[in-house]
Amino acid sequence: MLEVACPSPTSRVPEASPSSARETVVDDEIRGVPVPAGSIVAVLPYVVHHHPDHWPEPTRFRPERFAEATERHPAAWMPFGIGPRQCIGLHFALLEGQLALAMILQRYEFSAVPRRREPLRLAVVMRPHGGVQVRVSLAPALRARC
Ligand code: HEM
Repeated sequence: MLEVACPSPTSRVPEASPSSARETVVDDEIRGVPVPAGSIVAVLPYVVHHHPDHWPEPTRFRPERFAEATERHPAAWMPFGIGPRQCIGLHFALLEGQLALAMILQRYEFSAVPRRREPLRLAVVMRPHGGVQVRVSLAPALRARC
């Protein structure tokens, strides 16, 4: 389950990197809108990751959806970008996330502190406006030894 739960779902909503951009090299059009060569085109993973055509109940955190055999557009999940300039650290980051989570959960338990939901701050890297408060306690196995 760890493989499913981390970090693919957490990089969908909210995504670390909500936007990126490309400069076009040839004249083209997108849905009838002319896009001349040299245009800067914004690519918004935030919009793609919230699109109900790709993600039913888009704002719902449901890690199981990554384990389901669903046909999904290859670009529907793009927290690491897409195409030839996609993040070279993708596989390393996913593996590192799983290892870190496994090691942390062996030692600590986390529970949410009841609090109003903080709005996300849109920036180069997306983050909750006032941070996230969690209660951290020792895992039961370690507590028994104290
Ligand atoms: C959760 C962790 C990470 C996230 C969310 C992330 C996300 C991204 C994104 C969105 C891009 C731009 C891709 C595009 O424009 O299409 C990028 C590029 C890049 N990332 Fe990451 N990244 C992560 C970790 C890493 C790590 C661990 C490394 C190195 C070990 C790394 C190295 C790079 C490099 C070198 C590029 C530029 C690739 C290029 O322009 O050809 N990233 N990353």
